[in-house]
Amino acid sequence: MTEKYDELIQIFEKKFHHYPTDKFFSPGRINLIGEHTDYNGGHVFPASITIGTYGVASCRSDRQIKIYSLNFPDDGVISFDVDDESQLPNASWGNFVKGVLQALRGYGNQLTCGFELVVLGNIPNGSGLSSSSSLELLIGSVAQKLYSLKIPRLQLVACGQRAENDFIGVHTGIMDQFAIGFGEKNRAVYLDTKTMMYEMVPINLGSYVVVIMNTNKRRELTESKYNERVRETQEAVYQLQPFMNIQYLGEIEKNDFDKYAHILSSDTLRKRVRHIVYENERTKKGVTALKNDNLVAFGQLMNESHSSLKNDYEVSGIELDTLVETAQSVDGVLGSRMTGAGFGGCAIALVHSDAVKRLEKKVSEKYETSIGYAPSFYVAKVGDGAHWAGSVVEGEPK
Ligand code: GLA
Repeated sequence: MTEKYDELIQIFEKKFHHYPTDKFFSPGRINLIGEHTDYNGGHVFPASITIGTYGVASCRSDRQIKIYSLNFPDDGVISFDVDDESQLPNASWGNFVKGVLQALRGYGNQLTCGFELVVLGNIPNGSGLSSSSSLELLIGSVAQKLYSLKIPRLQLVACGQRAENDFIGVHTGIMDQFAIGFGEKNRAVYLDTKTMMYEMVPINLGSYVVVIMNTNKRRELTESKYNERVRETQEAVYQLQPFMNIQYLGEIEKNDFDKYAHILSSDTLRKRVRHIVYENERTKKGVTALKNDNLVAFGQLMNESHSSLKNDYEVSGIELDTLVETAQSVDGVLGSRMTGAGFGGCAIALVHSDAVKRLEKKVSEKYETSIGYAPSFYVAKVGDGAHWAGSVVEGEPK
């Protein structure tokens, strides 16, 4: 971790000819269970992880923002005025920065100066571990510190979501930003996205670990497919509202789904709603299972979640299915499912620590034969949420 900041400070000095004042970190996230329920007023159960985005920054005396990412060195230093609300071309990563600043202004915050920022993320891009929300909350933390903003954490989280929805144009729910904003070491966030009530649940997996399996598939069309699911579920709400007193699909109980499913105009909508209703139920059960240290029951719910995402919500794909279904067949694996938006990205498996190597071997062999390239594996560690990581002290880097 210190080496990361040393590298960032050196690059900052090279680019801007002085030292930064402050260090920041913002994690990525996995979602243990509760997928695509967040924009449906349902429950989610994500956790922030120890990989994420590192940044060093300092205020400027003018109103220029100058940002550089070691992940996108070809973009060079991106510059814009702190008040400039126009989009940067070519889907630049700088738009996430602009989107968060715009959202902060929208809440009435005074952005009193420009700043310089160098970032480095170790979340694989497009892996579904939320590198974009990680960056958004990093920017939120930078702004909070440099502008001395006394704002509630929930507002920072909401600014990340606003950036995504209003500036980038993906109609995501709030799960990722919430997990990253509120994350804590060794705890997962159980969030009711309708009421925004949440509970931090200790993650005691004993001799089991969560392994992240990356499809390494290049993400294509994810955003349009994601927005399509958002529209489908909204349409289902409109169709059901004359018969049910609901605002969100996440309010529907299983019995009521059976009673009213016939009202929906197509089998596709019925499948979408069934996923939300059952996934929401599984999430509540999953939290109880983990609280009772019943990992076997949790693993079973993970498996059911994946097949619902594959068959009813149709957001999986050959790559994710190959990872998950092969993992499920490995001795020592209690459960496996895709995590995040889907269509590529990552899956997770709950696996005995003695079986990790076996899992990697069997899944790699099968994946390479069927898909033609290799997956990657990481053991997930649940770490702290986005935060200021201290001042840069004289003499750094050592
Ligand atoms: C993405 C979105 C989240 C959530 C998940 C699916 O990660 O950013 O809001 O909808 O997909 O659960």
